[in-house]
Amino acid sequence: QLILDTLDKHSKIHDTRQLIIPGQQEPAASQDAQIIILGALNSLLSREMILYESHEVLSNVLTPEGEQIAKDGSHEARVWAALPLKGEGSAVNAVQLKKLVGDETAKVGQGRAFKSGWIGKEGDGFVKLIPTITDATQLDLQEVGSSGTHKSGEKLLADLRKRKLVTQKKGQWFTVTKGSSFSTSTAKPETDLTVEMLTSGSWKTSTYKKYNFEAEGTPTNGGALHPLLKVREEIRNIFLEMGFAEMPTSSFVESGFWCFDALFVPQQHPARDLQDTFYLSDPKNSLHPEKEYYKRVSTVHEHGGFGSIGYRAPWSHEESTKLLLRTHTTASSAHMLYKLAAKCRGEKVDDESGEYTHAGSKTGATEQDDGFRPAKLFSIDRVFRNETMDATHLAEFHQVEGVVADRGLTLADLLGFMRVFFNKMGIEKVRFKPAYNPYTEPSMEIFAFHPLLDRWVEVGNSGMFRPEMLEPMGFPKDVRVHGWGLSLERPTMIRYGINNIRTLVGHKVPIESIENAAAVMF
Ligand code: PHE
Repeated sequence: QLILDTLDKHSKIHDTRQLIIPGQQEPAASQDAQIIILGALNSLLSREMILYESHEVLSNVLTPEGEQIAKDGSHEARVWAALPLKGEGSAVNAVQLKKLVGDETAKVGQGRAFKSGWIGKEGDGFVKLIPTITDATQLDLQEVGSSGTHKSGEKLLADLRKRKLVTQKKGQWFTVTKGSSFSTSTAKPETDLTVEMLTSGSWKTSTYKKYNFEAEGTPTNGGALHPLLKVREEIRNIFLEMGFAEMPTSSFVESGFWCFDALFVPQQHPARDLQDTFYLSDPKNSLHPEKEYYKRVSTVHEHGGFGSIGYRAPWSHEESTKLLLRTHTTASSAHMLYKLAAKCRGEKVDDESGEYTHAGSKTGATEQDDGFRPAKLFSIDRVFRNETMDATHLAEFHQVEGVVADRGLTLADLLGFMRVFFNKMGIEKVRFKPAYNPYTEPSMEIFAFHPLLDRWVEVGNSGMFRPEMLEPMGFPKDVRVHGWGLSLERPTMIRYGINNIRTLVGHKVPIESIENAAAVMF
């Protein structure tokens, strides 16, 4: 109200430090008063009743010690006050003085009081030499405390600062002018037109709060893509851009035959153990796989063939038909490759749509059409492993997998292809390390240099599928198939800087982290 009334009278307030708050004699020069004034200015500004500009000043404020002196007097004055006047009582010795005024005040005050001629020695004690004193330090500090400055100027202020009784603080003051909705009434503008206002007629004279079209609305609550799905989409786009077709991967349940046997994984392989693979209890077993193919697979395992000596270990039909949760999407790749070789096996294929195959072969069509069509296939889907769960392992995760089938492919093709693929994922430096998979030969682990971690990390596994896998399917001898796989979680965690998988997947994931996750850019 003071601000509005002053503006009404003078149309401008040049310096808010000059305002005199009703009931107070001194102007509101202190920073405490300016802060209260700023609150009022902002509230009036939001109603467009005023405009203001702020200015900065360095003002002087009392330190805690300065405050105490302003209140109780300087150390020397306190020492003086504690002593009897010379000739009017017995002198106070140093020990007694400390008891009376405290160690600190006795120590500092005694010397100063001496120098000023306020006190003197009598025997081994002290007495007052004069009956009255003027405590200039106290008066100076009181003045600084209330006005933020001192009449006698900067030299004295600098001295008080040196004595650590005063410090400088940034302060503000303001100039104020009338705003577009200036009025002297601080009645809060109405925000609603009510029935009461209409019936009483008060609506005619009321002031109304302006509608704020710029205000941000409350955030709407919509669906949000999980970071895994965002990264999956990006990787899917890389595949599509490179001419790959997506494999159907909807069956989480596979048989031991398709998950392992068809891939030439020996029936005694540790990956097939209960500790590593989840088996189904009901139903326990799959239907019998296609008889001829099954025979060729079991034979290559037990006795060899296609240039291989096989594993020469007993074959178990029971093991082959066990139902399980697929441990890798290579089970789906096996289904697709088997389907791709159908024409090579001489089967009549109705679906000639070419959805999954490519017309032109790398090496050109052979003179006699043996039915083979090159293909580039990919999948990104869920797999299951009976893992001990920790910060980086869950019992289910997603695999990204690709296969390329063509005549006469070489290891160099696979190396080159991997470089291009991982470059597209934003991984520039890749390295390959010889590895072992039962279904590929040669096999290579893929390592990427991680600039943030400053080391090489394993990002995938790859290889050229073995003849023991491809030839029983019916592929011609010169057809080579590359395959590789990586997890979807690993690049996602790196992208989003997540180091515990439980903050990405599962019941402990905060919904906000999903809603606020940025879209990724490879
Ligand atoms: N199946 C492999 C894995 O689970 C990945 C892979 C796929 C390797 C195809 C070679 C060929 O790690």
